[in-house]
Amino acid sequence: MFVADSKAVPEAGRAVHSWKHVIDPVEPFLDAVSQRLAREVESFDAELLPYAEYALTGQGKHLRPALVALTAEALGKPSEAHVTAAVIIEMIHLATLVHDDVMDEAEIRRGRLTLAANWGNEIAVLFGDCLFAQALKLASGFPTTDVCRAVSIATNTVCSGEIMQTQHRRDFRFTRDRYFRVLEMKTAELFAVSCELSAFLSGVSKEQVGALRSFGLAFGTAYQIYDDCVDLFGSEALAGKSLGTDLAKGKLTLPVLLAHEQSSATDRAKLEELVQKWEPGSMKAMAALLAKYDALGGSIKTMRQYLDKARQALRPIPASAGVSGLASLTDYLIRQTDALGYVPDNGL
Ligand code: IPE
Ligand code: IPE
Ligand code: MG
Ligand code: MG
Repeated sequence: MFVADSKAVPEAGRAVHSWKHVIDPVEPFLDAVSQRLAREVESFDAELLPYAEYALTGQGKHLRPALVALTAEALGKPSEAHVTAAVIIEMIHLATLVHDDVMDEAEIRRGRLTLAANWGNEIAVLFGDCLFAQALKLASGFPTTDVCRAVSIATNTVCSGEIMQTQHRRDFRFTRDRYFRVLEMKTAELFAVSCELSAFLSGVSKEQVGALRSFGLAFGTAYQIYDDCVDLFGSEALAGKSLGTDLAKGKLTLPVLLAHEQSSATDRAKLEELVQKWEPGSMKAMAALLAKYDALGGSIKTMRQYLDKARQALRPIPASAGVSGLASLTDYLIRQTDALGYVPDNGL
């Protein structure tokens, strides 16, 4: 879950919204998505029902469906086709989470045991595949092949991004540019396709579809930067998932890359050694290095730049209630960073 609203400090000149406030206009849409996802449980073989029910009825934030809905609101009114698109995208997201938790050896997701922790890696990998396949089957039900093509391409991109990240574990030749490329692929692409497909289904011009896609890409990149900060500086209790897995798995995220770039030769050698020989007790020394080079502040600054880019992408869209809904999502994400600190409570 997004972290508690109570810690939020308003930014000067910006409207302040809670998560509830942000999604309030699209709550009926999100309820419909939840109901459709629950109904999808029945599309799996009876022997798979426990996994299907577990995965499809978990309490995620439904961020990507919210993007589909807010985009549709910005351009007109959401339709049943928008709900189906949101269900497909959330199902693909779920499949990537099931696989990601296997790779990260994560125990907790959405406030409870991961599918892999409950039923083992083999079941989790195969059931993740079933989720991908079912999502693509739903996509093939649209009268046009455009939807299925778009979600297939996005899925390929997401998985390719995860592979690239895996290829560069503990690799300090992994530069910031490559990090952002991985972020765009593994995370932002699904945000982008949420906005893009929603705009496409609303029947707007190519220029507007492109603008919404750009919004999703920039917002999704900012979101993964935020998530990477949560992994280092957040609280497991608030995030509802295992944290500290990035360094444990040798993933070099923005705070670590920034500290590495800025550090003295001695600190750089220390940081590299910590990463190469990572053990749970290393977090204290790592936190000290991250604090010394204000890696959290630097990461939040970059995240804000992406959020500015996201807001600018909305310029070609005529002002409406829905556009302010998308913009308030960016304000909301900025406010979540107020709850991050240098004292890790991330289970390490
Ligand atoms: C988690 O996504 C994976 C990332 C891209 C960081 P969410 O933060 O949207 O997770 P849920 O769907 O709410 O569980
Ligand atoms: C996962 O990134 C992105 C996906 C494509 C699933 P993370 O590994 O940081 O996501 P969390 O932190 O486990 O949710
Ligand atoms: Mg993970
Ligand atoms: Mg993470």
